[in-house]
Formats: sequence, C-alpha cells, structure tokens
Amino acid sequence: MTIVVRQLMPDDKTPAFDLNTMTGLPLTPLRFARLLLTGAAGNLGRELRPRLKKYCDALRLSDREPLAGDLVPGEEFVRAGLGDAAAVQALAEGVAAIVHLGGVSTERPWEQILDGNIVGTYHLYEAARRCGVGRIVFASSNHVTGFYRQDEVIGPHDPVRPDGLYGLSKAFGENLAQLYWDRHRIETVSIRIGSSFPEPKDRRMLATWLSFDDLERLVVAALTAPVVGHTVIYGMSDNAATWWDNTTARHLGYRAQDSSERFRAALEARQPAPDRGDPAVIYQGGAFVRTGPFA
Ligand SMILES: NC(=O)c1ccc[n+]([C@@H]2O[C@H](COP(=O)([O-])OP(=O)(O)OC[C@H]3O[C@@H](n4cnc5c(N)ncnc54)[C@H](O)[C@@H]3O)[C@@H](O)[C@H]2O)c1
Repeated sequence: MTIVVRQLMPDDKTPAFDLNTMTGLPLTPLRFARLLLTGAAGNLGRELRPRLKKYCDALRLSDREPLAGDLVPGEEFVRAGLGDAAAVQALAEGVAAIVHLGGVSTERPWEQILDGNIVGTYHLYEAARRCGVGRIVFASSNHVTGFYRQDEVIGPHDPVRPDGLYGLSKAFGENLAQLYWDRHRIETVSIRIGSSFPEPKDRRMLATWLSFDDLERLVVAALTAPVVGHTVIYGMSDNAATWWDNTTARHLGYRAQDSSERFRAALEARQPAPDRGDPAVIYQGGAFVRTGPFA
C-alpha cells in the first residue's frame, strides 16, 4: 500500500476543514451529523466552539453556565449540570461523538470534584453507552501525573501519580474510558492537556504549553483517526523542552505546529529565576502539588 502524504505549499488555499491540513496525514475528510461539546462556556469550550462547528452539521453545546454570545445556525445549547443523570442522557441522544470538556478544571474541594468529574463523567459514559455514541474525546489533565519530577520524561503508559484530588478525578475518567472501551467498545482519546492558553504564562508552561491551534489539531485528530480504542496522549505543542513522550499515540496522526520557544526570551527576562527547592519547580504539576486541601 502506498501512502501519499500531501505536501502543503505556502499558497495552499485548502479550506480549514480539510483534515490533511490539520494533521498532515491523508485522512478521509469527515463531517459529523451532530457533535456534543460539554463545558462549552469555559475557556477551552469558547475556543473550540467555532472551530468544531466546521466539522459538523449540528453542534450541541452544553454547560451549567450560560453561553456568551448568540447561537449561530447549526448550534444548539442545552444548559445542564453533569450531576443530573437524566439531563446528561438527553445531551447524548442523537450524537455521533462527544468532546467532553465539562467539569472542575482546577484543584477544588472534594464535593465539587465529586459532582463534576466523578459522578458527571460516569453519567456521560453511561449516556454514551445507552445512546450508542461511538467516540469520546476526554479532556484529561497533565495533573494525572503531576508528581513526576520535571527532570523525568514520562509517557502515557507510566503509572499515574496525581498531584491532587483534581488529578485523581481525571485518572478516574481515564479508567472509566478504559472500562467503557474494554466492555462496551466506546472509543476514547484521553488528552492530558498541558497548559492551553493564548501564550505560556510562566516558565513551567514553556514545557506544557498547548496553543489553541494545536488543541484544535489534536481534538480533530482524536475525533477522526480511524481506530483509537482508548488512547492516552499528552496535549502539548512542539515545545523545545518537554517532559512527555507521545510516541505511543502516533497513530492519532497529531502533528503539533506551534512551539513555546518564541516566548522564552521575554518570559525568562520578566520572571525571576526559579527557586529550585520549591515543590512547584521540582514537580511537573507545578503549583498544583501544593494547592489545597481546603478543609
Ligand atoms: N485549560 C487548560 O490548560 C487545561 C489543562 C488541563 C486540563 N484541562 C481540562 O480541559 C477542560 C476545559 O478546561 P477549561 O480551561 O476550559 O476549564 P473551565 O473551568 O474554563 O471550563 C469548564 C467548564 O465546565 C463547566 N462545569 C464545571 N462543572 C460542571 C458541572 N458539574 N456540570 C456542568 N458543567 C460544569 C463550567 O461551568 C465551565 O464552563 C476541563 O475538563 C479541564 O480539566 C484544561
């Protein structure tokens, strides 16, 4: 079999929804009838909302908070809490695939994490099973392995070492994804997102940064790769310094095209040299390793 990888030229006018453009691989362009995006009112939800619309006829958006801005044609909004099983079941009806961003996104008191990330993620997978949803892209987190040191390079198959209850809840989500693949054949790509912001905010993020364009490339690759089973991948751009080896997830065809390096000089000039005895500098999870408990 000959695989031809198309060379993109600088003046290439290929539309943004051509998957070859996004991944660099000769994938069949795919358009979904209906996608569900949870956590649509959040930081990454707001970024992915217009970007995902390019890949589907209908985009169902959900969050417990109201959305900013009016809906555009092809968008639907359902306000729902992930702790409400019936509401989550209704979200999954008629959906081909789910991008699951909803939930608590930082270290918080246990009750909040329990509702959004443990119970809520369980409700989502149960709804997917009942509704026959084939694939979920799960927003996991690098904090699943936050207690590895910054001088170690680890991969998705190393044992988890959560740096708090939040990281632990994401490890639960990944285990749930594995169970629903092994038992119910629902595919998941668990993306252990590093730090997805307009630009790196501190020295740690030089290693963990994921640009919004690369986030889109990664989510699209996760939605469209032919076979994923349950794949775990670290969500990062092509940063010069990295703690994560994504070799085992190459089958997704994700090719990062941004790098944090262009921010390094200015960032290092305005931020003091790190205290090497600080746990936030020793461990990959940064300040999360010393956030909480809250009681
Ligand atoms: N932004 C990053 O760099 C980053 C890094 C690692 C992981 N992640 C993960 O990616 C996802 C999105 O991150 P974000 O930065 O947009 O977070 P965010 O906090 O801005 O957005 C999360 C959204 O989920 C909603 N939500 C929370 N609990 C809910 C519940 N019980 N029911 C319904 N909705 C609920 C919130 O209202 C919010 O709009 C999160 O799951 C987060 O853990 C993000």
